[in-house]
Amino acid sequence: MQEQKQSFLDQLSESAAKGTFVKLTLSKPASKSSELHNIYARLVEIKGQLHLSFTLRYARRDETKNYLPAEAVKTVSDWLGKDFLQGDLYTTEKDYFFQYNKKREASLRTASPSHASTPNAGHDKAKKRLITADTANYLHLLGVANADGTIKKEGQKKFKQINKYIEIIDNLLAQQALPPKAHIVDMGSGKGYLTFALYDYLTRKLGLDIEMTGIELRPALVDLCNDIASKCGFEHLRFAAQDIRDYQPGHIDMLIALHACDTATDEAIAKGILSDSAIIVVAPCCHKQIRKEMHGHGDMQAILKHGILEERQAELITDGLRALLMEANGYATKVFEFISTEHTSKNLMITGLRAKAQPEAMAKVEAIKQAYGIKHHFLEQLLATPS
Ligand SMILES: C[S@@+](CC[C@H](N)C(=O)[O-])C[C@H]1O[C@@H](n2cnc3c(N)ncnc32)[C@H](O)[C@@H]1O
Repeated sequence: MQEQKQSFLDQLSESAAKGTFVKLTLSKPASKSSELHNIYARLVEIKGQLHLSFTLRYARRDETKNYLPAEAVKTVSDWLGKDFLQGDLYTTEKDYFFQYNKKREASLRTASPSHASTPNAGHDKAKKRLITADTANYLHLLGVANADGTIKKEGQKKFKQINKYIEIIDNLLAQQALPPKAHIVDMGSGKGYLTFALYDYLTRKLGLDIEMTGIELRPALVDLCNDIASKCGFEHLRFAAQDIRDYQPGHIDMLIALHACDTATDEAIAKGILSDSAIIVVAPCCHKQIRKEMHGHGDMQAILKHGILEERQAELITDGLRALLMEANGYATKVFEFISTEHTSKNLMITGLRAKAQPEAMAKVEAIKQAYGIKHHFLEQLLATPS
């Protein structure tokens, strides 16, 4: 067997064993007349044993087959090359793309992971949640749960988002622990759903001694959140009505900014970097600054004349440059989908863990700016001239 194929199968086997497996797809049928279009696999638990569950997608129907890992790897080995020319394996450590070209030469490409956590493997069991509503009074006070702790029908999406978010933070903390009395700042905290959940999880479930601050422009939301914090006995959580721009933190150990508008995300990242925050977690919102500056050259103009494509391009460039600027300033970054697009289209997350600075990333920033006629990225400006 080709070395690349063996290596791909080894990664499949290893990721299933280590619990880092996210999903696998087999595509590009070897024969044009094939009825079987593609295969999708996920990890499931059946009667207490992990299986790979394959969905075989035919033109008019789907068929499911469940295999124990060793058998699954052998089956994938049989399919690859004979029935399909491409296999994409996603794990929380790396993504692997295996392909045969027209001459049936094999290649294996890897990329940094596009998923930060694995989906739950429970097949017929309820999903294990890090946040449970029965003991979280703030969820009732925020209108997500009923007084008896059950989640309201209209609160289901928010509850799912909260749990996904806590799962991601939990994953980051496993890589970079917080110091005692860590200061966590949530910039643009809004109604505080995620702020309360994180405080609750870190103090009550993990037993950490932390200080948490929510910064929010709208005084009414700040009053509401301070009231809920007090009712829940969250002594070390306070909210301040302030513009992120004017907030002067003493120090920050973990900076969070979820869906803060346009350049407010840059203001938050800059505060995090300049305070030497060990962890940075942002989910950007609108991307107006770069969209106004960006000019498509040559052939790109024919594409960017479509508003939606220009918007997506602006998102890509804005967030790509944010990650590069974080890397240049000493963060190991990951960019991935936070929750599925069925919940919100604003679902990209950028995380950064303190690491060695990569000054060479600035050359990449410059090259990209030049290619798109961008004079400046707001974050770059903030880092150059801190307030
Ligand atoms: C879309 S909400 C997100 C709330 C929360 N982070 C979440 O994800 O559920 C964005 C919040 O950021 C606040 N915001 C926007 N720009 C801000 C700024 N410059 N300073 C402080 N808060 C800001 C808005 O008032 C709004 O409540």
